[in-house]
Amino acid sequence: MTDSPSKIILYLAPLRGFTGYIFRNAFMRHFGGFDVAVSPFIPTVPAARVKKTHLNDVLPANNRSVAVIPQIIGNNPADFIPLAQRLFDLGYETVNWNLGCPFPMVAKKQRGSGLLPHPQKIEAFLEATLPAIPNRLSIKARLGRKKTDDILPLLVIFNRYPLDEVIIHPRTGQQMYDGEPNLDMFEKCLDVSAHSLVYNGDINDLATFKLYSQRFKTVDRWMIGRGALINPFLPAAIKNGQDDVADKVKAFRAFYDDLFAQYRRDFSGPGHLLDRMKGFWTYFSQAFKDGRNIKKKIHRTRKLDRYLEIVERFFEEEAFWNG
Ligand SMILES: Cc1cc2nc3c(=O)[nH]c(=O)nc-3n(C[C@H](O)[C@H](O)[C@H](O)COP(=O)(O)O)c2cc1C
Repeated sequence: MTDSPSKIILYLAPLRGFTGYIFRNAFMRHFGGFDVAVSPFIPTVPAARVKKTHLNDVLPANNRSVAVIPQIIGNNPADFIPLAQRLFDLGYETVNWNLGCPFPMVAKKQRGSGLLPHPQKIEAFLEATLPAIPNRLSIKARLGRKKTDDILPLLVIFNRYPLDEVIIHPRTGQQMYDGEPNLDMFEKCLDVSAHSLVYNGDINDLATFKLYSQRFKTVDRWMIGRGALINPFLPAAIKNGQDDVADKVKAFRAFYDDLFAQYRRDFSGPGHLLDRMKGFWTYFSQAFKDGRNIKKKIHRTRKLDRYLEIVERFFEEEAFWNG
């Protein structure tokens, strides 16, 4: 696989608040490189309460630029099944089940990574859900809630079911995003799993991708999240085997202007728009020399007009791409 970059399949990771359809479409227009995007999670609600607004992010009309796998978070087959069916009716042959969300409020309710220490519950969920949904199921998981090896007995259970694939972010839920991804545990997962595994976690540059792909030679599916926000040229560079865009600031600005214009059209109030942009700049700023300065300036801003001036001046006078 690693000898032949054209066989690499790249997934855009779900990042709630960031990688919704506006971002996905703008990203594909300007940078490309991704084959598939897993949507940020859609929570299950009792069947009768599934509204069209829940599904806005994955409506086919909003998603013509890249193949999407909608992600669902929940632990109750009775709610999951009708939502998966609704998604099938929209054209989604595969849905993804979130077994990774680390937030204590979610995990306490035995959703996301909170389910990982409960193999019987997971097995009961699969037993009830798989025969009842028309979609194929993929799973996105962490290694465990607190322990790094919750995943191993789960992979043995997964082997008994016809899953599409298993995406693994090799950290525990308790770790959140701290520390290094545990590559040794990911290797163990490869030994145990009969399903295709997708590697996810901390692929932030081409050198890291090359290192990981040399170590995991049987893996041909890779998922990138924060790395694509910080370095949007990365997915195409991985596909091409080289990073050769000449004027990155100019290319990034064209993308940023497009993204901002789309959000401005979509969001009702300036406060909401400004908050969304502040979130993005937490990541975008990391691509630039002395990026902390622009991040600080933007995060201190309260008014949209002032934000626009700061960003304009940044691109005109201060922006230098790192590396
Ligand atoms: C702000 C934020 C939101 C996220 N939202 C989701 C989500 O909705 N569903 C999910 O499975 N993972 C979510 N994740 C986890 C990412 O998909 C991914 O597993 C993690 O960031 C590690 O990959 P990366 O190092 O390439 O970013 C989120 C992560 C962040 C930082």
